[in-house]
Amino acid sequence: MSNSSSLKWNGTSLVLDAAWGDNGKGKIVDYLSPHADLVIRWAGGPNAGHTVHNKRGEFKFHLIPSGIFNTKCILADTVVVDLDILIYEIDELLSRGIPVSSKNLLISPDITMILDWHKKRDALTEVARGEKPIGTTRRGIGPAYADRTERIGLQIHHLFEKNFEKRFKKEFDWQTRLTQLMSAGVEKKPYDYDDMLRRLKVARKRLKPMIQEVLPVIWKAHKEGKRILGEGAQGALLDIDLGTAPYVTSSHPTRAGFSAATGVYKINHVYAASRAYTARVGSGPFPTELTDAIGDHLVEVGHEYGTTTGRRRRCGWFDAVATYYGAHIAGATEIAITKLDVLDGLDEVKICVGYIFEGKKYGIGKIPTIKNRFLDHVKPIYKTMNGWSGSTKEARAFKDLPKNAQKYILELQKLLDKKIRFVSVGPKREEMFSM
Ligand code: GDP
Ligand code: IMO
Ligand code: MG
Repeated sequence: MSNSSSLKWNGTSLVLDAAWGDNGKGKIVDYLSPHADLVIRWAGGPNAGHTVHNKRGEFKFHLIPSGIFNTKCILADTVVVDLDILIYEIDELLSRGIPVSSKNLLISPDITMILDWHKKRDALTEVARGEKPIGTTRRGIGPAYADRTERIGLQIHHLFEKNFEKRFKKEFDWQTRLTQLMSAGVEKKPYDYDDMLRRLKVARKRLKPMIQEVLPVIWKAHKEGKRILGEGAQGALLDIDLGTAPYVTSSHPTRAGFSAATGVYKINHVYAASRAYTARVGSGPFPTELTDAIGDHLVEVGHEYGTTTGRRRRCGWFDAVATYYGAHIAGATEIAITKLDVLDGLDEVKICVGYIFEGKKYGIGKIPTIKNRFLDHVKPIYKTMNGWSGSTKEARAFKDLPKNAQKYILELQKLLDKKIRFVSVGPKREEMFSM
């Protein structure tokens, strides 16, 4: 089945990520959003990098939802936003003839803004972590969420208060002192008050029409049974609570995170994206990582360089143990396998079907936790399958795939114990089919 009616769904669906991110969420949202009435981004901030490759060309989004070509988009309360990056992205879209206005982009006033000090604190904290930094994107994500949970910091609605400048000055002085302390006095004058205030005023003027209460819009659409599509960011294994701590991000890239952001609890489909192999960017345990020629093949053929930071992504065999766990904590109902084409031509393909930890074997679904203290000490147990010689790139239905690629997909489906709903065989919108 790959006709467009099979892409329609009722109510609310989510596209999120079963592993450590970059599994093709942007592409899947672009594929599904022509059938959506609303696309909502709820997790993270400009640490995300979502690639869309459609008739309009190739686009890389950090904050703008990937549904912007097709339907109305919302940045929910729980996203942290760097207004400079948001405006840059809007301008880029406008310059390429894609309209962006209050007609297709709404920004919640309750969003916490990422300001210069969050980026500086992110960098200083990475240095303070010494030999074991997280490898953050240095986009200020952790410190912005820290301010939010500490119930300080500036939210977008503050820009419109009468006493905004007074509030900003207080915040500026406090953050300056904090940075001076964090840097042991090295940073003497870390921030430029006039420049920051000027940029905020420009953003306020520019974005004002798009800054609107979003919950009534979401709830009305939900009540009317409109098709809502949640666009996840990051990956479930990066979840602040259930992910591979401490090598995680600071938000909830899961179904629970979507509900916390929107107050919408009835969700019909949760599509968890996963490559046909496994990858991660940044530090942290990665049991199936390959540092050999096959690892290089995956990086080069899969163009595995970070969309946000340009860093080389670490690649390895499909980790069914970690992906099963990720899909579980994500609240996934179905799986979307992407980048199957990257495995084309390999003689054999391996799947990690268990871990050995302290001499004991743990099968899929049996690991007690995925936290670093466990994951960092496991040895993968592999199942080896035959590779395939033909190309998957032209496949537009399951039956078009080489036989061994079909077997591989069916094996993943069995191991993950979830229906594989979509298979992607190239970066372009049409290089995908549903099953
Ligand atoms: P996201 O963060 O989950 O949206 O994923 P990214 O955009 O960061 O990374 C996914 C990368 O893989 C992008 O460069 C996409 O263009 C590319 N991509 C997506 N699906 C496929 C696929 O099926 N095959 C290939 N070769 N590339 C893909
Ligand atoms: P998308 O939405 C891949 C990773 C960083 C780092 C850790 C913490 O494109 O899939 P942070 O800057 O969030 O404090 O960094 O999380 N990370 C991502 N990795 N894709 C992402 O987003 C990521 N967002 C954060 O590399 O290891
Ligand atoms: Mg990405």
